[in-house]
Parts: sequence; C-alpha cells; structure tokens
Amino acid sequence: MNKDLSGIVLTEEQICEKVAKAAKWLDEKFAGTTPLCISVLKGSVFFFCDLVRAMKTPVQIDFMTVSSYGRSSVSSGMPKIVMDLAASVEGRDVILVEDIVDSGHTLVRMRDLITGRGAKSFTTVALFDKPSRRVVPVKADYSCFEIEDEFIVGYGLDYAQQYRNLPYIGILKREIYEK
Ligand code: IMP
Ligand code: MG
Repeated sequence: MNKDLSGIVLTEEQICEKVAKAAKWLDEKFAGTTPLCISVLKGSVFFFCDLVRAMKTPVQIDFMTVSSYGRSSVSSGMPKIVMDLAASVEGRDVILVEDIVDSGHTLVRMRDLITGRGAKSFTTVALFDKPSRRVVPVKADYSCFEIEDEFIVGYGLDYAQQYRNLPYIGILKREIYEK
C-alpha cells in the first residue's frame, strides 16, 4: 500500500466486481439503444474505460473535463468546464459517468447543461457517493459504493493531481492534505 494512505477502500478485485454490477444495470436499462456515455474527466477516466468495456450494449463515448478543486480538498462550488464535449447530446440517451458525488455541485452543473442541450434522457452512474457531504440535493441514478467523509485517492481519483494511477482506492492520510 502507498505510504500516504491509511487504509484501502476498494481493492482491484472489488473494483472489478462493482464495475461488472454497474455494467449489468446499464445493459438492462439501455437494451436496444445506443447511448452516449460521457466521462467526467479526469477522475472518472479508469472507471469509465472499465465500465464501457464491461457493457454489452453498443455505446458511443465522449469526454468533458470539469475542474472544481484546485489544490484544496474542498469543492469550490463553482465547477469549471475546462474542455467541452465533441458530440452533440441533442436527442441522445446520455449516461454521465462520475467518480464521486460529493457536494453535488458537479452533477447539478452537468445535468443542467446536458438536459439544457436537449438530451432525450439523462442517467448518472457514480463510482462513489458521499451522502454526508451533500450541499445540493441530488443523487446519482446508480452509485457503486457509499462512503463516509474521508478523502480517497487512486483509480483516477487525485489529491493535487497525484495518486491517480494507483490501481486500488485508499484513504489519504489527513496529515497530507491538512498540512
Ligand atoms: P462535487 O463536490 O460533488 O461537485 O464533486 C466534485 C469532484 O470532487 C468529484 O467529481 C471528484 O472529482 C472530487 N472529489 C470529491 N471527493 C473526493 C475525494 O475524496 N477524493 C478525490 N476527489 C474527490
Ligand atoms: Mg470529478
């Protein structure tokens, strides 16, 4: 385990199981359609790649980069679109893939943007849900795992752009982000 972590939240095997379950849920919901799956970069990138490859439904993919944190571990409340989608969402069944729903600001921002652009349907899948941290009342349609108020890193999740390539997910020691 990385020395900056105080514990493991999900091992590679556990991530694999969660991804398979989420893919099955999506396959059932979207049978007979070709949804547009959107990865909210950068945090959801590995989850997204594993999830769409575990799906049997034919999908199209697109990416959007949203930044909310800077160097802090607390959301700014003003998620910024750093890179917009290439595809049009008009008339599309959109599946938004998020890493964590924390304050909820990012999810609300994405929902308003995508439904505002005329998507036919809007479904969100999140790897993690941190319900105790919610500021705006919103919930992903499917969350793989619920966690307490801990700061976690790995499998795409970062602190100050670090730890993203850990293959597992762990709790970052408080002394790292409180110093
Ligand atoms: P929001 O507060 O719901 O808008 O969440 C914004 C983003 O903060 C999430 O998509 C994550 O990228 C990031 N985030 C929230 N909690 C954590 C965490 O524990 N570790 C790493 N990133 C996090
Ligand atoms: Mg994110």
